[in-house]
Amino acid sequence: MSAIISDDFLDKSPPLYSGGVLSNVLGLHIFRTLYLNIWRMKPKKVKDELKSYVETLDRDGILIIPDFFPKDIFEQIRKEFDESYSGWSPFDYNEEELSKRQKDFPEYFKTIAEKIISPNTPVFTKYFVNNETINEITTAVVHRKNRLTPHHHFWYLQRRTLENEKAGYTHSAAYPHADVPYPTIKVFLYLNDVDESNAAYIYAKGSHKMTLQRLLFEYKLSVRYAKTKNDIVTDEDIAKLGYYPESICGKANTLFISNNMGYHNRGDFKTLEPRLTAQLDYRHLETWRNTLSRNDTDMISKVTRRIVKKIDKAKKKKLRASLSNNNMS
Ligand SMILES: [Fe+2]
Repeated sequence: MSAIISDDFLDKSPPLYSGGVLSNVLGLHIFRTLYLNIWRMKPKKVKDELKSYVETLDRDGILIIPDFFPKDIFEQIRKEFDESYSGWSPFDYNEEELSKRQKDFPEYFKTIAEKIISPNTPVFTKYFVNNETINEITTAVVHRKNRLTPHHHFWYLQRRTLENEKAGYTHSAAYPHADVPYPTIKVFLYLNDVDESNAAYIYAKGSHKMTLQRLLFEYKLSVRYAKTKNDIVTDEDIAKLGYYPESICGKANTLFISNNMGYHNRGDFKTLEPRLTAQLDYRHLETWRNTLSRNDTDMISKVTRRIVKKIDKAKKKKLRASLSNNNMS
């Protein structure tokens, strides 16, 4: 089976763009965007207590809830965050230690410190990662059952120096972008007070809607991307569509749920104040691993779970073989 299935088959989600110049000129991106949005233009029904939250998310593409956790729970999450970063200083910089992702933007990371951790600490896991409210709202918007744990992070971001003012714009995350052309959810919890001076998240409310205008805009972008690999969109581009980005400022313990089919970007730092967040990413809802990891006891579920196991086993075997080959050479 592994011979016909690519290694990342289980964990791959449909990307922002796909295909070459000709297929996109012929409308591939239009067809895939329509296909990826069909049956999920409106959120699913949720229990009464969550209705107004989901309505806001449907209207704006982002839902902001200040003071999300009871004070003691929030303080424990913040404590777990602080402990996870003990022994690390944002002022230490070693180009050699940049992660694979960071190496794509060396100029940015010379000025801005970033450290992402995927913690399994108890309070963060119980109240944030396995949060029933967040889970129900997310699955209603995305129209996918969640069978796995979302990607979960602590994220420390801080400017190290006030020199090099334009450094923030050397990362593509500084420009408005949609992560993918279908509903997808990211969740942020501010762990300190965040505003325009310490890189507040920026979101263009209403830009998550699939409209004819958006579809035509996407068509142009898909052809440009296929030709040049340029995916930069500017505030002026999206203003022409009637979308206006705004900073999502909030005190510590502000939670927001963002549909990242909408246009968003990372804010800039004007001070050396850090931006500390806990984040969840539900992109895995689009993967075959999530679809096949059915947790029922019926025959189909048993078979699909076995498929996942087999693919993982074959992948591990291949990895082991390539590692031992490398060791021999
Ligand atoms: Fe993004």
